[in-house]
Amino acid sequence: MLNYMVHKLTKNNLRTTLNFAQRHYITYKPKMADYNVRWAFNIITWKPTYEEILSASSYIQLEEKERLDRFVYQDDVKSSLIGRLMMRKFIHISTGIPYNELTFARDERGKPYLVGAGDVPINFNVSHQGDYSVLAGHKERNIGIDVMKVEPPVNKNVPEFFRLMTKQFSAHEWRTIKGYRTEKEQLKCFYRHWCLKEAYVKNIGVGLTIALNKITFVINTFDMSVGDIVTDTQLYVNDVLKRDWKIEETLLDEKHGVAVAIQVPKDYVTEPVSYSYLNFEELVKEAQPLNPPDQTFANSFLKKSMKPF
Ligand SMILES: CC(C)(COP(=O)(O)OP(=O)(O)OC[C@H]1O[C@@H](n2cnc3c(N)ncnc32)[C@H](O)[C@@H]1OP(=O)(O)O)[C@@H](O)C(=O)NCCC(=O)NCCS
Repeated sequence: MLNYMVHKLTKNNLRTTLNFAQRHYITYKPKMADYNVRWAFNIITWKPTYEEILSASSYIQLEEKERLDRFVYQDDVKSSLIGRLMMRKFIHISTGIPYNELTFARDERGKPYLVGAGDVPINFNVSHQGDYSVLAGHKERNIGIDVMKVEPPVNKNVPEFFRLMTKQFSAHEWRTIKGYRTEKEQLKCFYRHWCLKEAYVKNIGVGLTIALNKITFVINTFDMSVGDIVTDTQLYVNDVLKRDWKIEETLLDEKHGVAVAIQVPKDYVTEPVSYSYLNFEELVKEAQPLNPPDQTFANSFLKKSMKPF
C-alpha cells in the first residue's frame, strides 16, 4: 500500500511538473529496438486501395491533409503521406505517447518536430525520392536522412549537369567524382555526395541554404553492395574534420542510396542500423484515428494521375 501511495503521489507530483512527453516516458517502456530505427517504404509497389487512403486520411493532422491534397500527382501524395505515418508510428512506439495525441509542427525552415516534447530528446527525419520514403529516428541525437535515386539528368547531358552544379561541391569532391572512368559511375558518385550533403543539412535543419562547397565528404569505401552499411565516410566543414559526426550509408537497391548523419559526443556508441522495409499494414499497425475518415480526400486522391516521368 505504501509503495502504491508513494507511486501515486510521485506520479501526481510528476504530472504537474513534467511536460506531456516526459509523463509518457514514465508510464511506458519502449523496446530498445524502437529507439534507433531506419525504415524504408516502397511507394511504387504500394497500390493503395480506397479503404487504405480513407483510413490514412484519419491518421494525419488536418493541415497536413490539406497540404497533401494540393499535390498534383498521386506519387507525391503517397511519398509525403507515408513520411507522416512513419513519423507518427516512430514517436508513438519509441515514447508511448498515444498515437492520436501526438501533434507535429514545422519550424521556420519546414522541418517537422514533435510539439510539447520539451526536454525529451526524440528525433526523427524523413526523406522521399524515387521509389522510397524513408525515416531515421533516434531517441537522443539529432538525425538527418536523405534518399536519392540515381537517374540521368532531365534535358541535360552529364557534363552540362555537372557544370551547373560546380559550386555545390568542393574541389576534393569533384576530384573523387571525376576520378571515375564512365559517366554512369561519375553520376552515381555525384548522387552519393549529394545525398550525404542533404543528410547533413537536414540534420542541422538548415536545408540547402548554406554554402554546400564548404562541406566536404571524404569517401573511404568506394564499393557498396545493397544492404551494406558503410560508416567510414568522413565529414569536413571549412576544411576541419568533424570527428563527432557519424555517417551511415546504404544502398536500398541498385538505384537508391540513402545517407544518415548523426552528431554524437566523443566516445558515444551508436551502432549502425539496418533498414526495415515496412508495408502499409505494418506502418499503421498501432494507428488510432485523429479525425474521421475523409471521403473527399480519398476521392480526390483517386482522381490524381501518376507522374508521367
Ligand atoms: C530540407 C530540404 C533540403 C529537403 O529537400 P528534399 O531533398 O526535396 O526533400 P527530402 O525528401 O529529402 O525531405 C523532405 C522531408 O524532409 C523534412 N524537412 C522539411 N524541411 C526540412 C528541413 N529544413 N530540415 C530537415 N528536414 C526537413 C520533411 O519531413 C520533408 O517531408 P514532408 O514535407 O513531406 O513532410 C529542402 O526542402 C530545403 O532546403 N529546405 C529549406 C528551405 C528553407 O529554408 N525554406 C525557408 C522557407 S520554408
